[in-house]
Amino acid sequence: MNVLRRRLLSPFALTRPPPVASGMPLMENAGANHWTEAPLQISIKGILAQMLETLDEADRSRLISLGIGDPTAYSAFRTPHASEDAIEEALRSRKFNGYAPTVGLPQSRRAVAEHLSRNLPYKITPDDVFLTSGCTQAIDVTFMILSRPGANVLIPRPGFPMYELVASIRQVELRHYNLLPERGWEVDLESIKALADENTVALVIINPGNPCGNVYNYQHLKEIAETARDLKNLVVADEVYGHLVFRDTPFVPMGTFASIVPVLTLGSMSKRWLIPGWRLGWFVTTDPSGKFRSLEVMHRLKKYFDLLGGLPTFVQAAVPRIIKETDEAFFKKTVDILRESLDICFSGICDIPCLSCPQKPEGSMTMMAKLDLSMLEDISDDIDFCFKLAKEEAVIILPGIAVGLKDWLRITFAADPSSVAEALRRLKSFCQRHSKPDQQG
Ligand SMILES: Cc1ncc(COP(=O)(O)O)c(C=O)c1O
Repeated sequence: MNVLRRRLLSPFALTRPPPVASGMPLMENAGANHWTEAPLQISIKGILAQMLETLDEADRSRLISLGIGDPTAYSAFRTPHASEDAIEEALRSRKFNGYAPTVGLPQSRRAVAEHLSRNLPYKITPDDVFLTSGCTQAIDVTFMILSRPGANVLIPRPGFPMYELVASIRQVELRHYNLLPERGWEVDLESIKALADENTVALVIINPGNPCGNVYNYQHLKEIAETARDLKNLVVADEVYGHLVFRDTPFVPMGTFASIVPVLTLGSMSKRWLIPGWRLGWFVTTDPSGKFRSLEVMHRLKKYFDLLGGLPTFVQAAVPRIIKETDEAFFKKTVDILRESLDICFSGICDIPCLSCPQKPEGSMTMMAKLDLSMLEDISDDIDFCFKLAKEEAVIILPGIAVGLKDWLRITFAADPSSVAEALRRLKSFCQRHSKPDQQG
């Protein structure tokens, strides 16, 4: 725990950007090389692994983890048989044992292009789609293509720590703009304008959002697009939770506004199809005006994919059938269970005096709850809270500092409703036990 605390509490180290020789202008903003501050990295998986280490055998057998967004650990979340059949068919056909084009099989790129085009005012072509190893690799591809001496990228706080990790490896400077809890975790457009300079190359949004569960409406997304255009940036839209929305605001893909500003859309089948382990993801240039898709950029992308080597061919080959045969009933069932788990989680949090949630999530699989430490007597911060909770109640929750907000908690509700209910019961009894005497009811 001390190691973790030290790493989390001193997250900045000076690093030197690489002597990049092949920097090239992507849009108009280009800049000079300089020293940057890059965070010393720790991943969500790393923190959760450290918490697990503190548990003994007995605790592990009753463990409930609301720490990571992998619903497949729970029996309520199963991918349809059609997906399994598609993989089996592709494998047994013996047609897909060889190398595929490293950017993806043409039929699989076409299937993803058609799937994404259904929600856009124009058609994405197969050439716009690059298959990646999950959305994680799509993030890496994004930073590879954006990296150049002095470049900076704007990302949300709170956010998804993978961006910090990739940016530090790529030595791209990150600047954090705020999400506004009191406004449904909307993007603070003023903070974006204040942070951006001539070296800013892109603005990242995560919608539906991890960790806040935000779902941005049409108007807000349009304002984001216009702000990015005015700043001469492109927008990187992480839509790994696309379509996982439970309340009134529909999911609008950022690519809807690609006529205003070029958009790089990052996504995967991990969450919506409940197959995070199959590593089927995509990096998509949603750029009908072709401002971003210069020959040089496309050439560099293809070269990088040659280096990556591509996804297993038979897994890619299953994509068209998975997309074609997964019916709406399956998606609806997933969303219904997530909504039920969220309702339990949200009302459970509202019932615990030292926790509050500024807004009920509208989508994704995660939410943020604020800790009122003044009501607790022997908890020093969010890390202390989460480690003690793990040890005493065998419930794992992520300390908010891991996603950029100290003394908050990030809770994943992608679990069986009954497990969420039990975790919230234990969380409540933990908080009662640690409450100051004058706070106990
Ligand atoms: C916001 C966000 N982006 C990207 C990813 C990575 O997705 P994948 O599992 O498809 O690599 C995740 C995973 O949780 C995520 O929450």
